Amino acid sequence: MKNINRDLQLTSGSVLLRPYRLSDVDAVYEAVLESKAELSPRMYWYHPGYSIEEARTWVESCDEAWERESEYRFAITDSGSGVFLGSCALTIVNREFGVAEIGYYVRTNRTKQGVATTAVSLVIQFGFNKLKLNRMEIVIMVDNAASQRVAEKAGAIREGILRNRIIVREKAYNAVLFSLIPQDLNPKQEYSVRPLNQQDHAWVVNVLEQYWSSTRMVTRRTVHDADQLPGFIALQNDRPVGLIIYRLHNNECEIVILNSLVEGRGVGSALLETVRDVAISANCKRLWLITTNDNTPALGFYQKRDFLLVALHRNAVKYSRKLKPEIPLVGINNIPLRDEIELELPLLQ
Ligand SMILES: CC(C)(COP(=O)(O)OP(=O)(O)OC[C@H]1O[C@@H](n2cnc3c(N)ncnc32)[C@H](O)[C@@H]1OP(=O)(O)O)[C@@H](O)C(=O)NCCC(=O)NCCS
Repeated sequence: MKNINRDLQLTSGSVLLRPYRLSDVDAVYEAVLESKAELSPRMYWYHPGYSIEEARTWVESCDEAWERESEYRFAITDSGSGVFLGSCALTIVNREFGVAEIGYYVRTNRTKQGVATTAVSLVIQFGFNKLKLNRMEIVIMVDNAASQRVAEKAGAIREGILRNRIIVREKAYNAVLFSLIPQDLNPKQEYSVRPLNQQDHAWVVNVLEQYWSSTRMVTRRTVHDADQLPGFIALQNDRPVGLIIYRLHNNECEIVILNSLVEGRGVGSALLETVRDVAISANCKRLWLITTNDNTPALGFYQKRDFLLVALHRNAVKYSRKLKPEIPLVGINNIPLRDEIELELPLLQ
């Protein structure tokens, strides 16, 4: 990890990352004040009396951290105007093992424009290509959905829950651990799909609990023990990257679960096609599924693959919640979880 020049710039589209300069102090202070409502519940270093002196001390310490090769702190800036947008840092956690942690924030008036995702992706490239790291981690509070989304979009893999891992103002919080290893960045790597077997069971249970709160799934007033149903697993270099679980019933095939753990690489499509083939072989009339009103990514995914919206079951989640109380009240993007939406792919004429 030697001699990373401080003239370094990392850039993609309208975002440019560079090491901090002393002249950044005012901009850092301004951005932190502007973002206090978002930073306050998340960042251990923020407190209501945060001062310009603290901003200065922090900026002044960046050079030394860089020289010691203990932390590489980048100012995220707008590549056109040079305006300070936020911060992204790579902290070496274990030098011998080549393990580092990524932390970040984006000033409030520039969130939801892809800035964090671009910055984190650039720092990941820097970590693997320049520092030759072996593993990078992102540790995120369990309720910080926006940051978890950033980690996912940057290609990180969700590994599990770490208890009491983050402390903010003397209170400990559980965190989700995401990680990346160099192979995660190679999109050309092939993956394979095979039926689930008994050895996969513990992993399946883990995915169901992490993404769906438990192994029980409720669709159209029916509880399914999803870990007992058939399915397929997608593997990349022997590492699980996707899961689909289905149910054959009354000449129909229902997709009960579809989870891709690496987005944008075709894993979801490959799993879906595999189950469609199963359904066709079983002479099913249709392949169908239920999603909830908040799940706009799923609605897009299935419609792009010829699924039709065939029913809106209003307020059905209220009933499902009686059968499965762990269903949360709000879902993706804080949208209240209310309705079940039924989609289908007709299979036979
Ligand atoms: C988390 C944070 C860095 C995100 O920055 P950003 O520049 O807005 O991130 P991006 O625009 O690249 O991506 C945000 C994603 O989260 C989604 N998102 C935003 N708010 C969300 C919410 N409340 N629930 C679920 N998803 C949310 C966005 O829709 C977007 O996903 P999409 O592109 O699929 O629509 C920023 O909100 C922040 O600085 N928060 C405070 C500090 C913090 O939490 N840092 C991370 C500590 S681990």
